[in-house]
Amino acid sequence: MEQQPNQPSPENIMKIGTGFWASKILLTAVSFQLFTKLAEKATMSAKDVKEVLKLNCTDRNVYDFLDALTVFGFLKRDGILDTAIYSNTIDTDTFLDKNKPSYIGGILEMMNNRLYAFWGSLGEGLLTGLPQNEAKRSEDFFGLIYRDPEKLKEFTNAMSGIQMGNFMAFAQKFDFTKYKTLVDVGGSAGLLSIMVAKHNPHMHCTSFDLPPVEPIANATIQQFGLSDRVKTASGDFFSMPIPNADVVVMGNILHDWNEENKIALMKKAYGALPAGGAFVAIEGIIDDERKQNVFGMMMSLNMLIETGTGFDYTFADFNRWADIAGFQSTMLLPLTGPSSAAIAYK
Ligand SMILES: C[S@@+](CC[C@H](N)C(=O)[O-])C[C@H]1O[C@@H](n2cnc3c(N)ncnc32)[C@H](O)[C@@H]1O
Repeated sequence: MEQQPNQPSPENIMKIGTGFWASKILLTAVSFQLFTKLAEKATMSAKDVKEVLKLNCTDRNVYDFLDALTVFGFLKRDGILDTAIYSNTIDTDTFLDKNKPSYIGGILEMMNNRLYAFWGSLGEGLLTGLPQNEAKRSEDFFGLIYRDPEKLKEFTNAMSGIQMGNFMAFAQKFDFTKYKTLVDVGGSAGLLSIMVAKHNPHMHCTSFDLPPVEPIANATIQQFGLSDRVKTASGDFFSMPIPNADVVVMGNILHDWNEENKIALMKKAYGALPAGGAFVAIEGIIDDERKQNVFGMMMSLNMLIETGTGFDYTFADFNRWADIAGFQSTMLLPLTGPSSAAIAYK
């Protein structure tokens, strides 16, 4: 029966309220590398999956796990229960097979290993305004994470996963014809610089980040065969100048910090640009009415969990800060899904 517009329904309440069940099923499949193993073998029965993943549960548990993934659209299935044969869908084959360069599961691995547990303390975060991650009792989030080589690798992979589509879109949509050089501030594994150099053969890029990240960026640049036009530089963007360039990019950087530091970083970018140069922030920019981009709002709460004082923002906020920093004009370039490039011209 069709629901009347003014009739109450518990449907949405239950869907969102149980959302962590769905999320945890996907995150567990990624952490087991189920999609990678399925890509290697093309198809598997539930019995094969049980054996390959060394699951010690009942066959019924395995059917439930795999059939839920099928209903979500992450697996295809022929047959049922003990006659079922499972394979990846086009999405999971493309984006969740670890052996493909298009793998974006790094962010999901980090969601499973770190954020799932930390989000359990969202209430405490809201009550105290304090971060709820490893840095619960310390100010230096990046210093703490980067002390552990495994966490450093996991964090940079996660950043690559979440921003890959946006970087590819930005490299192709933004007009680079007037520019020759770009610096990506907080560039992590260097993917933004790599994408820009790949799609714009006249561009020379520098990926700038904290010293522990530099070897990871150099290895990625080498993998793409772009060492002649993509370089790295390292340092602390608060205590030292950032390299001069025609385009200064910050992807998911401003949202890590409070308003005062956001403005300080935009002023620093302004100082590194020539007249006519562009400052670009690539983030889940929230719509000015705060009615649509729920991903941006959830990411902002994620910044409470991760940094305590960081937050995501609207284009109107960006315009206000661009004005304070001295920029002449701004524009918003939509990228993939909820993400955009907020651009300020000097
Ligand atoms: C949230 S990640 C974003 C990475 C990447 N730009 C992206 O869009 O996925 C923030 C990055 O800023 C870097 N970072 C944090 N504090 C920094 C500092 N003081 N100086 C330079 N880089 C810093 C981190 O190492 C990390 O790579």
